[in-house]
Amino acid sequence: MTDDQWFREAVVYQIYPRSFQDTDGDGIGDVPGIIDRLDYLHTLGIDVLWLSPIYRSPQDDNGYDISDYEDVDPTFGSLADVDRLIEQAHAPGIRIVMDLVVNHTSDEHPWFVESRSSRDNPKRDWYWWRPARHGHEAGTPGAEPTNWQASFSGPAWELDETTGEYYLHLFSRKQPDLNWENPQVREAVYAMMRWWLDRGVDGFRMDVINMISKHVGPDGSLQDGRPIAGTVLGDGTPFYICGPRIHEFLQEMHREVFDGRSQKYLTVGEMPMVTVEEALLFTDPARHEVDMVFQFEHVDLDHGEHKWDRKPLDLRDLKASFGRWQEDLADIGWNSLYWNNHDQPRAVSRFGSDAPEHRVASAKLLGSVLHLHRGTPYVYQGEELGMTNVPFAGPQDFQDIESVNYYRTAIEAGADPEWVLHNLRLGSRDNARSPMQWDASANAGFTTGTPWARVNPNYPEINAEAAVADDASVFHHYRRLIELRRSEPAVAHGHFTMLAPEHRTLYAFMRTFEGTELLVLANFSADELAVTGDDVPRLDRWSGADLLLGNLADDPSSVVEPLRPWEARILRRTT
Ligand code: NOJ
Repeated sequence: MTDDQWFREAVVYQIYPRSFQDTDGDGIGDVPGIIDRLDYLHTLGIDVLWLSPIYRSPQDDNGYDISDYEDVDPTFGSLADVDRLIEQAHAPGIRIVMDLVVNHTSDEHPWFVESRSSRDNPKRDWYWWRPARHGHEAGTPGAEPTNWQASFSGPAWELDETTGEYYLHLFSRKQPDLNWENPQVREAVYAMMRWWLDRGVDGFRMDVINMISKHVGPDGSLQDGRPIAGTVLGDGTPFYICGPRIHEFLQEMHREVFDGRSQKYLTVGEMPMVTVEEALLFTDPARHEVDMVFQFEHVDLDHGEHKWDRKPLDLRDLKASFGRWQEDLADIGWNSLYWNNHDQPRAVSRFGSDAPEHRVASAKLLGSVLHLHRGTPYVYQGEELGMTNVPFAGPQDFQDIESVNYYRTAIEAGADPEWVLHNLRLGSRDNARSPMQWDASANAGFTTGTPWARVNPNYPEINAEAAVADDASVFHHYRRLIELRRSEPAVAHGHFTMLAPEHRTLYAFMRTFEGTELLVLANFSADELAVTGDDVPRLDRWSGADLLLGNLADDPSSVVEPLRPWEARILRRTT
């Protein structure tokens, strides 16, 4: 491995600053709070911190709507705080990765304020402006330039009264899409990225970066998408997911921002709906695009027709998906590995079991399975404690714009409120955003003020202080997994082979590297599970293997004896 591939041995920890640690009593986490917790993160052993956006923002989408890319929102602190964070994180070798949100800005960004001011403003073309649909009067139903649905419900176009034209927003109406066709836009973004690198940050997580290139007809037209059942809107994704110039844009970004610098930065592109074939192109080091992508296949498997139509997960589908990504990116390219982030419900409630008797074991099992795949693992704040989904009492408890808009539009469309609430409880992003649980004191030690989001009532039991003090906690299991990546080269570099793909509850795979074999056995159920020679070929060879890491208090008497409920074993043998 060359130095410029360091990210292959790294573990990234994601911080959602708003919910991490408040220091000034306003109920919202801040950058000084992150600095205060660096020791905790160092004890866990992570290599990189990725911060969700802390830039100036009206907070319509909790900071993913940016009005100044080169300043920190006063809610989170100041640029001086960020400089201090970079310096103090770097001291023990922790790198800092910033969120890069450049598919869209806030509608309060000066670029958009100018752009919307008149049709002939020099920045007009920095965004997607279009007249009403031919033959329709602006502002009347169906007059939007295309029928695309926005990710946060409703049409993706908003009429601006000043000039009588519509602008495109694939997310909220306060998040207008930048027009990447315009070279001035691209130059401005690259200059801003260089500014952050010069400040000392170590890379970027690129928000919905595969949406920046749109399919534009020769006459500048955008097309309608396939109608979405039950709505008057259509699916625009074929016209903006991995559009025709996406690879060109990312290669240009690489040249303009990263080339010629002595440091190797980390780049990870968030890419909804990306296929593994596309991911191979994005992550092929020879193409100079990004190091890895966040794909969504495995977190979409419990969705029916759409995100708000939840169905039970079939473990066979999960293995088929992960297995394909492992195989197809084995020789060229690289995987990112995640269960959780600020947009996903809590993993232990979703893929494991948050029942009191299984929570700790299943949270550790999920960690073992994920970290032993080939790729760079991401830990989302609180995942290392086995934090769970939030018991939301009713619709009034949800704050996230996506959840709030979904509730409103679904109810307006006549959906059963209980069903809508059920889907929200399972799928809302608010599950991930409840404050970090630090200790058993008021508000879980997150703030001395009133927390912006409700603290999960289970914090007296599930919190960092208790976890650090308990050697058998989820925290120490994650710490050991991270340590294992350093001590055992097969974890980062081994070849991956999926086993027993058709088994409904056993997740089993092997990693092989230079005479070492690792076998991971994980029981995704609350029943005992006997592993057989049909599941693991030549199982007998493993009977004398070492148990590198288990997840239950007492070790099994034999490493191949039946797995107990939610048991996961990592075995090692030399060949
Ligand atoms: C993806 C981010 O992860 C999500 O939180 C945000 O709402 C959208 N992109 C829009 O920026």
